[in-house]
Amino acid sequence: MRLIKQLHFEKLKPLCPICRSNGQESFLEIRSVLKESNNSIIEGILICTNTQCLSEYPVIDGIPIIVSNLRTYISQNLIPILCRDDLTNTMESLLGDCFGPGSAFDTHRQHISTYAFDHYGDLDPQETTKSPASPGSIVKLLRQGLLSMEHNVRGPVIDIGCSVGRTSFELAKKFDEIVLGVDINFGMLKTASSILENKYVSYPRRKSGIAFERREFPAVFEKAGNVDFWVCDATALPFSDEVFSAGVSLNALDCVWSPYDHLKELARILMPGSRAIVSTPYDWTANATPVESWLGGHSQRSKHKGSSEAVLRSLLAGGDHPNAVEKLELISEEELPWTLRLHDRSFMEYLVQMIIVQKKSAS
Ligand SMILES: C[S@@+](CC[C@H](N)C(=O)[O-])C[C@H]1O[C@@H](n2cnc3c(N)ncnc32)[C@H](O)[C@@H]1O
Repeated sequence: MRLIKQLHFEKLKPLCPICRSNGQESFLEIRSVLKESNNSIIEGILICTNTQCLSEYPVIDGIPIIVSNLRTYISQNLIPILCRDDLTNTMESLLGDCFGPGSAFDTHRQHISTYAFDHYGDLDPQETTKSPASPGSIVKLLRQGLLSMEHNVRGPVIDIGCSVGRTSFELAKKFDEIVLGVDINFGMLKTASSILENKYVSYPRRKSGIAFERREFPAVFEKAGNVDFWVCDATALPFSDEVFSAGVSLNALDCVWSPYDHLKELARILMPGSRAIVSTPYDWTANATPVESWLGGHSQRSKHKGSSEAVLRSLLAGGDHPNAVEKLELISEEELPWTLRLHDRSFMEYLVQMIIVQKKSAS
């Protein structure tokens, strides 16, 4: 019997990102399965089939890590990769006090707290109406986008920047297809993968400062067997052209190091005629994206007067823009709310622009 991940592999046929960056298409294959559970690979090794390359990529906690600079990636993700999840809440709080605010451990817990609250808080029986904003804003955003996506979804679906994974589960409920959630953050995907494996959410919910409480509750999603979570870079996706029949990129465009490359990659991997939902609050920071790569948000003296919306429209309109994404056509745009919870007394309210784009058919 084939393992679930093997089937996803055969369908998605991932490429070696190192060979891809050198202009070559070399497929990866599963070299070894070291640990399996629930008919899925938990630990294993993938290898590039190009005998001149033979690069290896690990599967850890059920998550394949398919990025070109693996050594740098692993060394920068030591905490989420090696972090244990068997400690009691009390011991975790003591360690949190020792690591202190601003530590990698603290940043990791804060990210999980914020995104797990919004993605899964609607399923948490302990979540009361006392809080000024309710969870679930990302599910509402996705549902609104999906109204324009009935269109032609016959083949794998990709959820780029999926974080802790709720939108991937929602996409699997909606479409009878493989849904691949990809993100660059191993810690977020570890939460997503553990929900997939255990049908159970367990996350540290921030109260204030470095005080957290653990929330645990069941989360069962229909057709979750079609979902998989991989570490991939949105600006260099390890797939051949035209593999996906739909794409979703919610609030990731202003978090990647090159929004241009992200849009070009989205255009490349979509099948002709298929659509993608892209939303963004254009909340630019130089920590995530160098200013030269921001879409607007600077250079008010230019033709677009620093407007991010105008730059995005002009990229999709083709024309003379050096980074024009000629293969995508803008179908619609609207503005929608998106809320994130930072702690008991702090919420961030965004107004995101959501666009629907369609891959042009080859003429
Ligand atoms: C603002 S969060 C949005 C998460 C989720 N889509 C949501 O709206 O709740 C942006 C996500 O993009 C991911 N991300 C940033 N750079 C990335 C890259 N180069 N490749 C893939 N994911 C990336 C982050 O790790 C994070 O999970």
